[in-house]
Formats: sequence, C-alpha cells, structure tokens
Amino acid sequence: MKFNKLLTILAATAGLAMGAAAHAKEMRLGLIVPASHEWSKAAVAMGEELKQKTNGKYSVTIFPSGQLGNEAQMLQQLQTGALDMAFMTAAEITNRVPDYGALFAPYLVKDVRQAGVLLNGPTAQKMLERLPREVGAVGVGYGVASMRLMLNGFPTNAATDLKGRKMRITPFPPVRDFYQLLGAASTPMPLTDVYDSLANGQVDGVDADMELVYRMKFYERGNTLLQSNHMMFPVVGLVSGRLWQTMSTADRELVAGAARKHLNGLFDRYVQVEHEMEKSVQGTKVKVVKVGPEFFGDTLKQWEEIWLKRTPVLADLRREAAAIK
Ligand code: BEZ
Repeated sequence: MKFNKLLTILAATAGLAMGAAAHAKEMRLGLIVPASHEWSKAAVAMGEELKQKTNGKYSVTIFPSGQLGNEAQMLQQLQTGALDMAFMTAAEITNRVPDYGALFAPYLVKDVRQAGVLLNGPTAQKMLERLPREVGAVGVGYGVASMRLMLNGFPTNAATDLKGRKMRITPFPPVRDFYQLLGAASTPMPLTDVYDSLANGQVDGVDADMELVYRMKFYERGNTLLQSNHMMFPVVGLVSGRLWQTMSTADRELVAGAARKHLNGLFDRYVQVEHEMEKSVQGTKVKVVKVGPEFFGDTLKQWEEIWLKRTPVLADLRREAAAIK
C-alpha cells in the first residue's frame, strides 16, 4: 500500500473513532440490590453487550446497593434525566401505578418459569406501555427475583404463628395487606436494614426470597424458613424519558432489546439460583418448612376480594395465569 493511501486510511479511522467517542453515552444505571445480586449481574452483562454491539457508543456503569438513593429517589432522577436507567422493583412502581399491585397477587404463578410467561403476556406488557405517561420513564422489559418466602426467628408451623409478629415487609400495599390479614404487625423496611433488625429484635421475621436469605446471610438470624413461594417479585427495566427523547429509533431498539434480553434471562437463571441457594440454606441450622396456599387459609380469599375491587387488571392476570401450561 502506498504511504499516502495508508495515511488517508489512518486519518479516516481516527476520525471515525473520534466521532464515536464524541457521541459516546455512558449510561448510569441504579439498583437497590448489592453487586452480588443476580439483577446487578444482568445489568453488567447488558452493558457489556451494548458496548460491544455499538463499538463503545453506549456503555453502562452500574450503581448498586442504593448508592444513588432509594427507589423513589431513583425514579425522580430518571424523570429529571439525572439517572439514565434503573432495574427497579415492580413494588416501587406500584406506589405510583396501583394497578401494578395485581402482579403481587398471592399464588398468581407457581414458580419463576410461569412468572416469565405471565410477564411477557398481553396484560403485563400493556402495563409497561403506561409507564412513560404515568412515571416519566420507559419500561423496556421485565425480569424477576426468586419467589417470596419468610425467614422467621420463631418456629412457624401454622399461619396463626404469625399473629402479632413484627414482620419486615417491602414498603408497598399488596404485601402490607397480606401481612395485616394474617394478623402480623407489618414493618416496612428497606433490604439494607434487615440483617441488623433481625439481630436486634426490631423484627421477628422477614418477607424475602431464597437469594436474599442466603446471600445477605439472613439465615444466621433465623429459626424457620417458611418456603411458601407465595408471590412473584418482578423487576422492571426503566430508561429515563428524557434520554429516550434524544435517542434514534435504532438506538432505542438496541438498548431496549439488550435490556429485555438480560432481564428475561433471569426467569431461567432463578430456576437454578433457587435450587442452589435452597441446598445451601438446608446446610445451615435453619429449619426449612415447605408450604402451599392451603397454609394461609381464608387470608388469600380476603386479599383477592380487596384487590379485585382495587384493580381490574387482577382478573385479567388470573385468567392468563390459569392458561399457562
Ligand atoms: C425486597 O425488598 O425484598 C427486595 C428488593 C429488591 C430485590 C429483591 C427483594
């Protein structure tokens, strides 16, 4: 190759690289879960894929463990554009869009696999479309955490054992109603405070999941793990509405597609994680008690009556869930 031609190619390549760098967007993504949590790992994998597919035009830096504030604060930051993305609990969305509470109907799905089918079904997908208008952020897809259960510092053999107990809950209405109907004193508390609160007696038990019980070592403070699998716990991928406005259609598809892929990957991932964590917890001093809907007696009917009045979405979700094989 002639020297002049080589110079021209080098200059053009450098120009392209500078152009890409000039338009490079480092997206800040917030989560309340720790870096070791599966949601954080999914966010990192999504960022790597985006960076590679766009030759560095998009990259993602994650801020786990609520470094940027709690989820209510992160939602505000998404609205103002101070934050670009979040993997956020559907619990927090419920505080803004009450219909989201229907996703937490007890025994709506049997397991994380069914959760994946339902969340990719028509009703849940239509709910995502409401988010730009109602929360100022674009919902790009769902994932899930492991199924809800209880880690209690007291022997738990019947639902009556929960009466009067201080139970840690994620602060939002569907779960608060569930524990109130069970006669427990529901105690709203963020994840970060749970371990110490179990240790110092501020709470007697916690509504949590198998991953949290094992990875955040709640089992060290427990007597009984009530493996009830009583609710699913969806996570929603959100992109700031402000950022979205500045993106081309092609870029929106790329970002939304990568987020959806890695969030959806959690449905399969948790089948494995639940199994691994359950085996690990069984190796500890905690007694594992497996129960189904019958354990909760009339409470489930009462919950349903309250929420059928609150949101029409619940009946639609129940219908779709009943058809899942
Ligand atoms: C919880 O509040 O229990 C929770 C929060 C984020 C992920 C999973 C669980």
